[in-house]
Amino acid sequence: MDGLVTIARQISALTYKNLVLAKRNYTSTFLRIFASLFFILLIYLCNEGIKARFSQESSVKDVPDPVPTEKHGIPDCIPKVEKGCVTFSYAPAPNNELSVYQLEGCLPCVPVSQLPDGQCDIDSNPASVFAVSLTRGTRYRVVRHAARCSECTRSVQLQNGTSADVVRGEWTSPYMEYTVPMQLVAHREIAKNVFLKDENFKVQIAIQEFAHPAFVVSTFEGQIAPLFLLACSMFPFVIQMNEIVAEKELKLRQVLSAMGLKDFSYWMSWHLFQSFMALLYSFLLVLFGMAFQFRLFLKNDFGILLITFWMFGQSMIGLAFLLGSFLRRAAQAVTVGFAVFLIAFIFYFVVVFGFPYGLGGDRAAEPLFSFFPPSLFVKNLADLGALTATDKDLGIRFSEAYSYCTINPNQCNPSYSVGTSWSWYIGLYVLYSLVGLYLENVLPDAMGVKKAPWYFLTPAYWGFTEAHIHDDPTFVIEESTDEDVLAEEASVKARANEEMKEEAAIEIRGLKQTFKRGGKPFHAVKAPWFAVAKNQLFALLGPNGAGKTTTINMLTGFLPPTAGNALVFGNTVAHPSGMNRVKRVIGICPQFDILWERLTAREHLIIFAIIKGIKPDSVYHEADKRIEEVRLNDAANQIAGSFSGGMKRRLSVAVSLIGNPSVVYLDEPTTGMDPINRRHVWDVIEAAKQDRCVVLTTHSMEEADILGDRIGIMAKGRLRCIGSSVRLKSRFGGGYRISVSCGDNMTKSLPHCIKIKEMFRKTFKVEVVEESKTYMHFNVPNTDDATLQSFFEQLESSRESLCIVDVQLSMSTLEDVFLNIAKQSEKEEALSMNRTANVTLKTGEVVGVLLGNEDELVSPAGVTFKVKWGTDEDGNL
Ligand SMILES: Nc1ncnc2c1ncn2[C@@H]1O[C@H](COP(=O)(O)OP(=O)(O)OP(=O)(O)O)[C@@H](O)[C@H]1O
Ligand SMILES: [Mg+2]
Repeated sequence: MDGLVTIARQISALTYKNLVLAKRNYTSTFLRIFASLFFILLIYLCNEGIKARFSQESSVKDVPDPVPTEKHGIPDCIPKVEKGCVTFSYAPAPNNELSVYQLEGCLPCVPVSQLPDGQCDIDSNPASVFAVSLTRGTRYRVVRHAARCSECTRSVQLQNGTSADVVRGEWTSPYMEYTVPMQLVAHREIAKNVFLKDENFKVQIAIQEFAHPAFVVSTFEGQIAPLFLLACSMFPFVIQMNEIVAEKELKLRQVLSAMGLKDFSYWMSWHLFQSFMALLYSFLLVLFGMAFQFRLFLKNDFGILLITFWMFGQSMIGLAFLLGSFLRRAAQAVTVGFAVFLIAFIFYFVVVFGFPYGLGGDRAAEPLFSFFPPSLFVKNLADLGALTATDKDLGIRFSEAYSYCTINPNQCNPSYSVGTSWSWYIGLYVLYSLVGLYLENVLPDAMGVKKAPWYFLTPAYWGFTEAHIHDDPTFVIEESTDEDVLAEEASVKARANEEMKEEAAIEIRGLKQTFKRGGKPFHAVKAPWFAVAKNQLFALLGPNGAGKTTTINMLTGFLPPTAGNALVFGNTVAHPSGMNRVKRVIGICPQFDILWERLTAREHLIIFAIIKGIKPDSVYHEADKRIEEVRLNDAANQIAGSFSGGMKRRLSVAVSLIGNPSVVYLDEPTTGMDPINRRHVWDVIEAAKQDRCVVLTTHSMEEADILGDRIGIMAKGRLRCIGSSVRLKSRFGGGYRISVSCGDNMTKSLPHCIKIKEMFRKTFKVEVVEESKTYMHFNVPNTDDATLQSFFEQLESSRESLCIVDVQLSMSTLEDVFLNIAKQSEKEEALSMNRTANVTLKTGEVVGVLLGNEDELVSPAGVTFKVKWGTDEDGNL
């Protein structure tokens, strides 16, 4: 029951988010809802234009009493427009024994003598006419070949161009325009000259169509409108694709999931929202269609239309979800969306021309085509259009959704009636959504995480057994050499098979993470063992790429560990059911702000508060409290996209603290903050750590020093040291730092600088570690007070002679510890990889030395030397 309440709350939080985002993106929401109006308006305008153009065409209306139209001569070619066209050609046979004059009378209708140039050819024989049309591409309206006459036979050979022609903007039939008049003239002349011998004999022809009703598909509305309706109904698909992938790209789902959002709630809210939008869109589309008086919308039942458009939209949601599972970038989603759009257009023509849903032929293609919802939809639109094509058609009633084809089986394919298509749409929606969900799990997500292809068959997935983590045999861990790390490891390992210690909040038990880098395994986290107590702030430090974020990602469920385990309040992170329990008690501020650009700070906190399971009546109070804490009051109602870097970090910190989690992970929370706000956030963290466990990573040593109860430094995936700040400084800090200044313009070659360095070398055996124009810094190991005192007295007495203007003494800082550890880890790695570097000795001899080797060495020339390694700005030796 609790589970259901949580799911309902989470769905309501995400629906709230979707509605707010829809409101904020009002232009695109308006387009998304009212796009149908634009399409319907377009259909209306085109329809009106075409109606005006073809209003005179008899095929579009009932013709009860056809009127004959008289036919006159053959229309002349228009030489400027119809290039290469010759109206008339006369080709007498070479041995023409015929009294051709008898037929010359046929010419008055096309009087050769009066034809302008280029419209009349008189050629010597038929073959040359063919040759001309073949080589020059000349088209002839009519060719009259030499005629033959005998006492009983009068024959004339006529040829006419058979391609349809546009004459003055009208398509003409060559048979009606050329063949019939020419033939008639020939007959008339034969009758006049040969048989009747009457000069005044006349024949007049007229063409009269049969009486007929208007043809079935008469206007644009019936023919092209389905194409527009297809485009209109496909429009939301591209937006859906974009939305689903954009949220994935932002990794918001991972953060929401780590904060306790159930996958079911997430997908359910997405599907519910999209279904609602599809319903709204279809409803408005049908309403607009009716408002513009389209027969398809007026004559078919409202319910039939609404369900057809909606169900089609639903199947496209499934398809968007399926295709979205392959994509990681929103830009790709738009491209794929348009590609599907174009494919649907091609399918439109395939389906409209009767394939594959025609009544004859092979039916095997029907189901195959139906797996692509637009094919079925085009078929539906074609049926609905055909059923309302003329004024006399009545459309279909709801009860006829399945049966209209059976009533008139010659009209359409009953296997794919509108009603049957509804079942297809629902089936496809469910199928595509399930396959999409499966692919979401087995294809790498935004963090590169994927499950095994058979994941849903494993008992662990359903929470019956512990997930089995395969250890990587190639994963060799170098034993730690640090006594504190070894002691911590031993203490945690001693309890490896037991419950966690009462006072511990987190126990990291050999967590490992291996990535693939260039096809080879790369071990990012190398099995650290340590515990973090309740009410403790554990600062995890380390150079870039040390594995801090990867460790946190494993603890928060972003990344499943490759091997090893970690327990959070006794729940294992290596198992889905354990992780689900862990998610209820953790808060996260990820290294990179993962926020909705278009939501305000307050809205973020409200959504996360509901997801965290805070009671509805306390949600607003909780959100305001956190806003206050991170001092975002003035910007509470400002969208996160307009925040500065520091404000976004503060909002992320507030999000991590919402719902009072027992464990909070803060991954570089103060990056990008100014010193005032940084100090303020330190206060927030200081207050927050009172009754909870906080794991903090940072590159600010000051922050770690001030806030950290315990500090661990990682490098190259391994824990290098662990302990309190004081302990680390005393063990790794190297004692004191003494800084000496000889004015503003010091150079290395100044004699008094050389003398000062000499003094340090003599007394403490140390070299300068850092040199600037104003200070020389020396790290001095722990020494007895007497030596230190006499050294300072010596410095004081030589103050004038050595031009010393300032001397500073400080305890070594955490930064020194950090630098030492980082350098040490670099050296270890370099040594393990056997890399060498060339070193030039004072004698000028160049020798190859193993990178990181600080032993005393002897060169081939017999010089004894020792190399001291430093690190550059990238941390390399
Ligand atoms: N998904 C991944 N695929 C491959 N390599 C990865 C992945 N995530 C992290 N890495 C690698 O793992 C190593 C540790 O990365 P991680 O982000 O944990 O470092 P970090 O200690 O948080 O560093 P920073 O201080 O820069 O945030 C890096 O070398 C990084 O390139
Ligand atoms: Mg990091």
